[in-house]
Amino acid sequence: MSTTESKAASGIVSPTVLPRRVFQILTICSGKGGVGKTMTTVNMSVLLAQAGWQVTVLDGDLGLGNVKLMLPVSPTSHLGHWLTGQCNFEQLAVSTPFGFRIISAPPDEFQLSGLTQKQQERLVQLFDKIQQTSDLLIIDNAAGISKNVLGWCRMAHRILLITTPDPTAMMDAYATLKTFASFQLPPPISIIVNQARNLDEGFDTYKRLNAAATKFVGIDAGWLGYIGGCRDLRLAIKTRTPPVVLNPHSPFSRSIRKTTSHVARWLLDEHMPTQTDESRNMVTKALSELAHMAPALME
Ligand SMILES: Nc1ncnc2c1ncn2[C@@H]1O[C@H](COP(=O)(O)OP(=O)(O)OP(=O)(O)O)[C@@H](O)[C@H]1O
Ligand SMILES: [Mg+2]
Repeated sequence: MSTTESKAASGIVSPTVLPRRVFQILTICSGKGGVGKTMTTVNMSVLLAQAGWQVTVLDGDLGLGNVKLMLPVSPTSHLGHWLTGQCNFEQLAVSTPFGFRIISAPPDEFQLSGLTQKQQERLVQLFDKIQQTSDLLIIDNAAGISKNVLGWCRMAHRILLITTPDPTAMMDAYATLKTFASFQLPPPISIIVNQARNLDEGFDTYKRLNAAATKFVGIDAGWLGYIGGCRDLRLAIKTRTPPVVLNPHSPFSRSIRKTTSHVARWLLDEHMPTQTDESRNMVTKALSELAHMAPALME
């Protein structure tokens, strides 16, 4: 099968359909921990890259990031090194064998709100570099709403909220949407239901969550699909190979491919950014807001 045919067969639209190049930032969030943000980030990035997207993944789980552990790469530099001028962009943004790049999180606790002026400027420069080389930056977050999560969300054009059908995960997802509403987060928000048995269970979970969010907090989040249970985890972890690569035709891979096709269409909808320098402004604005924000946020 040729590359063009395989792109068409995946059903995932490529940004090359656009008349001009657009750069977007997508953050992946959840209320509860362990619902599959990193798993979704990594597998979705593989599929988007296969469809022609130039993707950079930033591990935004500062202090606890584990994106690199799911991939056969051993980065020697992380975001902390970049911010203190100890590495260049090529050392920081590491290519994976799956067509996208990753930027690792610092291993120790790290607060975006504590950046010096110089470090803030380095972060802006980093986003400029990413923008020059990518169509899409995906930021994988820690669970809950810490100041760091809120900071990354403020810098993003879109927020993707992950939940599972588990009632506690749904309650925490609702609490997250409520916090987003109280901070008047402007980006469009959409939901993916991970670890659903089938489409019915996924869509029912979304409908119940979104009905409560619409009624009580005024957020009407979009539906992007469900992701089924993955049976190839042991081998995936052992070989540090994403399950969509290991077993592209498994029910898990089929479900995440379909959901990624919805994500790609969502990325190319009417909410696309219009100005090319927008992300620089968004980063600067987010950092200045964080500096004035009360520390008491849901973790
Ligand atoms: N669809 C799935 N099927 C089976 N296992 C899954 C699925 N999604 C995630 N997992 C497993 O659940 C665990 C948590 O997943 P992951 O690390 O992606 O969650 P997370 O939301 O990023 O967690 P954290 O909040 O700690 O960052 C991992 O062991 C992962 O392999
Ligand atoms: Mg994670």
